[in-house]
Amino acid sequence: MGKLVLAKNITINYNDTQIIKPSSFSINSGDFVFLTGISGSGKTSLIKTLYAEHKIQSGEMYIGEFNLKKINKSKTSLLRKHLGVVFQDFKLISEWNIIKNVMLPLLITGIDKSNAKEMAMQYLNKVKLSHKADKFPFELSGGEQQRAAIARATIHNPVMILADEPISGLDEYSASLVMDLFIEANKLGITIVIASHSIPQNFDILFKQLHIEKGKIYELA
Ligand SMILES: Nc1ncnc2c1ncn2[C@@H]1O[C@H](COP(=O)(O)OP(=O)(O)OP(=O)(O)O)[C@@H](O)[C@H]1O
Ligand SMILES: [Mg+2]
Repeated sequence: MGKLVLAKNITINYNDTQIIKPSSFSINSGDFVFLTGISGSGKTSLIKTLYAEHKIQSGEMYIGEFNLKKINKSKTSLLRKHLGVVFQDFKLISEWNIIKNVMLPLLITGIDKSNAKEMAMQYLNKVKLSHKADKFPFELSGGEQQRAAIARATIHNPVMILADEPISGLDEYSASLVMDLFIEANKLGITIVIASHSIPQNFDILFKQLHIEKGKIYELA
Protein backbone atom coordinates (compact mmCIF):
# COMPACT_ATOMS: atom_id res chain seq x y z
CA MET A 1 0.00 0.00 0.00
CA GLY A 2 1.05 3.58 -0.59
CA LYS A 3 2.64 5.88 1.94
CA LEU A 4 0.13 8.09 3.69
CA VAL A 5 2.47 9.80 6.14
CA LEU A 6 6.12 10.49 5.44
CA ALA A 7 8.33 12.15 8.03
CA LYS A 8 11.97 12.81 7.23
CA ASN A 9 14.33 14.08 9.91
CA ILE A 10 11.58 15.98 11.65
CA THR A 11 12.12 17.87 14.87
CA ILE A 12 9.38 19.28 17.09
CA ASN A 13 9.93 22.26 19.37
CA TYR A 14 8.08 24.42 21.82
CA ASN A 15 9.92 27.71 21.49
CA ASP A 16 13.57 26.84 22.13
CA THR A 17 12.92 23.47 23.67
CA GLN A 18 13.33 20.55 21.33
CA ILE A 19 11.12 17.67 22.34
CA ILE A 20 11.59 15.49 19.25
CA LYS A 21 15.11 15.09 17.86
CA PRO A 22 15.60 14.37 14.15
CA SER A 23 13.41 11.36 13.47
CA SER A 24 12.10 9.64 10.36
CA PHE A 25 9.14 7.32 9.94
CA SER A 26 6.33 6.52 7.60
CA ILE A 27 2.77 5.23 7.84
CA ASN A 28 1.19 3.28 5.02
CA SER A 29 -2.43 3.79 4.17
CA GLY A 30 -4.45 1.13 5.95
CA ASP A 31 -1.93 0.73 8.79
CA PHE A 32 -3.06 0.26 12.38
CA VAL A 33 -0.48 2.18 14.41
CA PHE A 34 0.18 2.40 18.11
CA LEU A 35 2.19 5.43 19.14
CA THR A 36 3.81 4.58 22.45
CA GLY A 37 6.11 6.30 24.93
CA ILE A 38 6.09 7.34 28.56
CA SER A 39 4.20 10.37 29.85
CA GLY A 40 5.84 13.53 28.54
CA SER A 41 7.64 11.73 25.70
CA GLY A 42 5.80 13.66 22.98
CA LYS A 43 2.85 11.52 21.85
CA THR A 44 0.29 14.33 22.02
CA SER A 45 2.74 16.69 20.33
CA LEU A 46 3.14 14.28 17.42
CA ILE A 47 -0.65 13.83 17.14
CA LYS A 48 -1.02 17.63 17.06
CA THR A 49 1.66 17.82 14.38
CA LEU A 50 -0.22 15.26 12.27
CA TYR A 51 -3.41 17.31 12.75
CA ALA A 52 -1.53 20.42 11.55
CA GLU A 53 -2.12 22.11 14.88
CA HIS A 54 1.59 22.33 15.60
CA LYS A 55 4.31 22.83 12.98
CA ILE A 56 7.50 20.82 12.71
CA GLN A 57 10.62 22.83 13.43
CA SER A 58 12.76 21.21 10.75
CA GLY A 59 12.77 18.28 8.38
CA GLU A 60 9.96 17.32 6.05
CA MET A 61 6.56 15.89 6.67
CA TYR A 62 3.78 14.94 4.30
CA ILE A 63 0.29 13.53 4.71
CA GLY A 64 -0.60 12.46 1.21
CA GLU A 65 -0.10 15.56 -0.90
CA PHE A 66 -0.18 17.92 2.07
CA ASN A 67 3.18 19.40 2.98
CA LEU A 68 2.84 20.03 6.70
CA LYS A 69 5.69 22.52 6.74
CA LYS A 70 4.09 24.85 4.24
CA ILE A 71 0.41 24.25 4.90
CA ASN A 72 -1.81 27.36 5.00
CA LYS A 73 -5.19 27.92 6.61
CA SER A 74 -7.40 26.74 3.77
CA LYS A 75 -5.27 23.64 3.11
CA THR A 76 -5.39 22.90 6.84
CA SER A 77 -9.21 22.85 6.81
CA LEU A 78 -9.12 20.67 3.71
CA LEU A 79 -6.70 18.22 5.35
CA ARG A 80 -8.80 18.08 8.51
CA LYS A 81 -11.89 17.07 6.54
CA HIS A 82 -10.00 13.85 5.80
CA LEU A 83 -9.00 13.28 9.41
CA GLY A 84 -10.90 12.08 12.46
CA VAL A 85 -9.40 13.18 15.73
CA VAL A 86 -9.91 12.25 19.37
CA PHE A 87 -8.12 14.74 21.62
CA GLN A 88 -6.79 13.75 25.01
CA ASP A 89 -9.26 16.24 26.54
CA PHE A 90 -12.07 15.32 24.05
CA LYS A 91 -12.82 18.92 22.98
CA LEU A 92 -16.57 18.45 22.66
CA ILE A 93 -18.41 21.69 22.00
CA SER A 94 -19.95 22.54 25.37
CA GLU A 95 -22.90 24.56 23.99
CA TRP A 96 -24.01 21.69 21.75
CA ASN A 97 -25.77 18.51 22.78
CA ILE A 98 -24.09 15.15 22.17
CA ILE A 99 -25.85 14.28 18.93
CA LYS A 100 -24.98 17.63 17.37
CA ASN A 101 -21.36 17.19 18.46
CA VAL A 102 -21.26 13.80 16.72
CA MET A 103 -22.96 15.26 13.61
CA LEU A 104 -20.33 17.99 13.27
CA PRO A 105 -17.93 16.31 10.77
CA LEU A 106 -20.89 15.46 8.52
CA LEU A 107 -22.30 19.00 8.68
CA ILE A 108 -18.86 20.31 7.66
CA THR A 109 -18.86 18.10 4.56
CA GLY A 110 -22.32 19.43 3.67
CA ILE A 111 -24.49 16.37 4.34
CA ASP A 112 -28.07 17.42 5.07
CA LYS A 113 -29.19 17.64 8.66
CA SER A 114 -31.67 14.78 8.82
CA ASN A 115 -29.27 12.27 7.26
CA ALA A 116 -26.51 13.50 9.56
CA LYS A 117 -28.78 13.04 12.55
CA GLU A 118 -29.69 9.51 11.56
CA MET A 119 -26.05 8.54 11.11
CA ALA A 120 -25.07 10.18 14.39
CA MET A 121 -27.68 8.05 16.18
CA GLN A 122 -26.17 4.92 14.61
CA TYR A 123 -22.72 5.88 15.79
CA LEU A 124 -23.96 6.79 19.26
CA ASN A 125 -25.49 3.33 19.34
CA LYS A 126 -22.15 1.72 18.54
CA VAL A 127 -20.61 3.34 21.61
CA LYS A 128 -23.78 2.64 23.67
CA LEU A 129 -24.67 6.29 24.12
CA SER A 130 -27.89 6.74 22.15
CA HIS A 131 -29.78 7.37 25.41
CA LYS A 132 -27.58 10.44 26.02
CA ALA A 133 -28.08 12.01 22.58
CA ASP A 134 -29.90 15.07 23.92
CA LYS A 135 -27.59 15.68 26.88
CA PHE A 136 -24.84 18.26 26.94
CA PRO A 137 -21.17 17.33 27.45
CA PHE A 138 -21.15 18.54 31.08
CA GLU A 139 -23.97 16.07 31.85
CA LEU A 140 -21.82 13.11 30.77
CA SER A 141 -19.10 11.26 32.64
CA GLY A 142 -15.52 11.47 31.38
CA GLY A 143 -15.74 8.04 29.78
CA GLU A 144 -19.05 8.90 28.11
CA GLN A 145 -17.56 12.11 26.68
CA GLN A 146 -14.61 10.10 25.43
CA ARG A 147 -16.94 7.66 23.63
CA ALA A 148 -18.90 10.56 22.10
CA ALA A 149 -15.61 12.03 20.87
CA ILE A 150 -14.75 8.68 19.29
CA ALA A 151 -18.13 8.49 17.53
CA ARG A 152 -17.45 12.00 16.20
CA ALA A 153 -13.99 11.00 14.96
CA THR A 154 -15.20 7.99 13.00
CA ILE A 155 -18.59 9.07 11.59
CA HIS A 156 -17.35 10.70 8.36
CA ASN A 157 -15.18 7.79 7.18
CA PRO A 158 -11.97 9.80 7.40
CA VAL A 159 -8.79 8.72 5.65
CA MET A 160 -7.00 8.58 8.99
CA ILE A 161 -8.12 8.57 12.62
CA LEU A 162 -5.81 10.15 15.19
CA ALA A 163 -6.76 9.14 18.71
CA ASP A 164 -4.92 10.39 21.76
CA GLU A 165 -5.26 7.90 24.65
CA PRO A 166 -8.76 6.90 23.53
CA ILE A 167 -9.21 4.10 26.04
CA SER A 168 -7.39 5.42 29.08
CA GLY A 169 -9.92 5.78 31.86
CA LEU A 170 -12.48 3.44 30.27
CA ASP A 171 -13.59 0.18 31.86
CA GLU A 172 -12.88 -3.04 30.01
CA TYR A 173 -16.30 -3.19 28.36
CA SER A 174 -16.24 0.41 27.06
CA ALA A 175 -12.62 0.03 26.01
CA SER A 176 -13.48 -3.02 23.93
CA LEU A 177 -16.44 -1.18 22.31
CA VAL A 178 -14.07 1.59 21.33
CA MET A 179 -11.33 -0.73 20.08
CA ASP A 180 -13.92 -2.65 18.04
CA LEU A 181 -14.98 0.60 16.41
CA PHE A 182 -11.36 1.32 15.43
CA ILE A 183 -10.87 -2.23 14.16
CA GLU A 184 -14.08 -1.96 12.11
CA ALA A 185 -12.88 1.36 10.66
CA ASN A 186 -9.47 -0.14 9.89
CA LYS A 187 -11.13 -3.03 8.02
CA LEU A 188 -12.75 -0.40 5.80
CA GLY A 189 -9.24 0.80 4.97
CA ILE A 190 -9.06 3.71 7.39
CA THR A 191 -5.58 4.31 8.80
CA ILE A 192 -5.58 4.34 12.60
CA VAL A 193 -3.06 6.06 14.86
CA ILE A 194 -3.58 5.51 18.58
CA ALA A 195 -1.39 7.20 21.16
CA SER A 196 -1.19 5.05 24.25
CA HIS A 197 1.25 4.34 27.07
CA SER A 198 1.08 0.69 26.16
CA ILE A 199 -0.50 -1.70 23.69
CA PRO A 200 -3.68 -3.39 24.99
CA GLN A 201 -3.20 -7.02 25.93
CA ASN A 202 -4.66 -9.66 23.61
CA PHE A 203 -4.65 -7.22 20.72
CA ASP A 204 -4.52 -9.64 17.81
CA ILE A 205 -4.77 -7.31 14.81
CA LEU A 206 -1.57 -6.82 12.83
CA PHE A 207 -0.20 -3.45 13.87
CA LYS A 208 2.75 -1.17 13.55
CA GLN A 209 4.39 0.55 16.51
CA LEU A 210 5.95 3.97 16.60
CA HIS A 211 7.81 4.36 19.86
CA ILE A 212 9.13 7.62 21.29
CA GLU A 213 12.12 7.29 23.56
CA LYS A 214 14.49 10.00 24.78
CA GLY A 215 13.17 12.38 22.15
CA LYS A 216 13.47 10.09 19.16
CA ILE A 217 10.71 8.34 17.25
CA TYR A 218 11.48 4.72 16.42
CA GLU A 219 9.62 2.65 13.90
CA LEU A 220 9.16 -0.86 15.28
CA ALA A 221 7.82 -3.56 13.00
N1 LIG B 1 2.14 23.89 24.69
C1 LIG B 1 3.31 23.50 25.20
N2 LIG B 1 4.28 24.39 25.51
C2 LIG B 1 5.47 23.99 26.01
N3 LIG B 1 5.79 22.72 26.23
C3 LIG B 1 4.89 21.78 25.95
C4 LIG B 1 3.59 22.12 25.43
N4 LIG B 1 2.90 20.98 25.26
C5 LIG B 1 3.71 19.97 25.66
N5 LIG B 1 4.91 20.45 26.08
C6 LIG B 1 6.04 19.63 26.56
O1 LIG B 1 6.40 18.70 25.55
C7 LIG B 1 6.71 17.43 26.13
C8 LIG B 1 5.85 16.36 25.48
O2 LIG B 1 4.49 16.56 25.87
P1 LIG B 1 3.31 15.69 25.28
O3 LIG B 1 2.05 16.25 25.79
O4 LIG B 1 3.47 15.59 23.81
O5 LIG B 1 3.64 14.26 25.96
P2 LIG B 1 2.77 12.93 25.97
O6 LIG B 1 3.66 11.82 25.52
O7 LIG B 1 1.51 13.13 25.23
O8 LIG B 1 2.47 12.74 27.52
P3 LIG B 1 1.17 12.09 28.26
O9 LIG B 1 1.33 10.59 28.13
O10 LIG B 1 1.32 12.53 29.67
O11 LIG B 1 -0.06 12.60 27.60
C9 LIG B 1 6.52 17.57 27.62
O12 LIG B 1 7.78 17.76 28.22
C10 LIG B 1 5.66 18.81 27.77
O13 LIG B 1 5.95 19.50 28.94
MG1 LIG C 1 -0.46 13.09 25.75
